[in-house]
Amino acid sequence: MTTKNLFLLPGDGIGPEIMAEVKAVIGFINEAGLADFQTDEGLVGGCAYDAHGRAISEEDMAKALAADAVLFGAVGGPKWDAVPYDVRPEAGLLRLRKDLGLFANLRPAICYPALAAASSLKPEVVEGLDILIVRELTGGVYFGEPKEIVTLENGQRRAVDTQLYTTGEIERIARVAFDLARTRSGRVASAEKRNVMKSGVLWNQVVTKVGADEYPEIKLEHVLADNCAMQLVRWPKQYDVIVCDNLFGDILSDVAAMLTGSLGMLPSASLGAPDPATGTRRALYEPVHGSAPDIAGQGLANPIAMLGSFAMALRYSFGLIDLAEKLDAAIAEVLDSGTRTKDIASEGSNVVSTTEMGAAILKAFKAKV
Ligand code: NAI
Ligand code: MG
Repeated sequence: MTTKNLFLLPGDGIGPEIMAEVKAVIGFINEAGLADFQTDEGLVGGCAYDAHGRAISEEDMAKALAADAVLFGAVGGPKWDAVPYDVRPEAGLLRLRKDLGLFANLRPAICYPALAAASSLKPEVVEGLDILIVRELTGGVYFGEPKEIVTLENGQRRAVDTQLYTTGEIERIARVAFDLARTRSGRVASAEKRNVMKSGVLWNQVVTKVGADEYPEIKLEHVLADNCAMQLVRWPKQYDVIVCDNLFGDILSDVAAMLTGSLGMLPSASLGAPDPATGTRRALYEPVHGSAPDIAGQGLANPIAMLGSFAMALRYSFGLIDLAEKLDAAIAEVLDSGTRTKDIASEGSNVVSTTEMGAAILKAFKAKV
């Protein structure tokens, strides 16, 4: 069994509390001989600033670069509101994303049957939902130049942002989406606005060509991004993998996330380019939520987003699909039993702490493997 290196960055606020539940699962996986994970741990965010005045040290950056995958908790909090801009807690995450070359952001939207009734949509619309939004993360209008506000001769000011994509950038995100679809239902929907944007025309052409040349078995559908937002609210189960640019992905992933309920439930992954020698990708897995300073240290944090992020690591970095499925199934089973952290509690549920939720999921997981 090859040893897999995991670098853990719990961070601030509830980060260490939810990471502790992942560590318990990793410990069990190793003890049971299901895999061989070697873990190391570092500091990121406010705790790193307190320790050495930087949001992440060079030593920890080197460990992140050398690891097979990084598990990230959350950073920030009011304690660090006044620290200088370039060493603020978020700078640690931005540095990791940049240096690891993480250009593909994966945001699943899964609706656990037990929580369907809590959605703002009808239960039948969301129950059993399991879609994946693949968002391009390092290009597009958030980064394109020129990007400026200028004052015109007539005294008005003019703002410019530039939506800019190259064929290479579109090809590599399309390949991520097609590769993922191969492990799922075999369907990809590509969202853009080719009707009004040149970048949408190119996006459409490049995704079509990558699909036809390299993934002929995948069923590709093109959808205008505004229609996609509508369809996500009308009948989201028509989709499986949705691929889109940075801006549309930002919006569509938030729409999809809210179909399924609480922030404490949402995992994510960010992937880099494959290593030419091994084919493996640099990767960072993190919950969508932040450090939740309002509930930190009280045992109130929901560990499911963090555990779900680890399940994504099992699936996408290590190919341990069976273990990932069993961990996801353990989460669903515990929710079915009515066990809830406070953020997802409803009438009649058995409200438990972070550690109790983690222990219940671990127990259900142990029973499956
Ligand atoms: P937040 O996601 O930390 O919290 C928003 C609300 O959701 C809070 O009421 C919180 O208690 C609740 N919540 C979040 N995660 C939860 C969980 N696992 N279980 C139960 N309840 C949960 O966002 P907020 O309050 O805007 O930001 C707090 C700090 O986190 C800020 O310093 C912000 O900059 C940082 N942040 C960090 C992120 C990251 O590390 N990737 C992402 C978003 C915010
Ligand atoms: Mg957003």
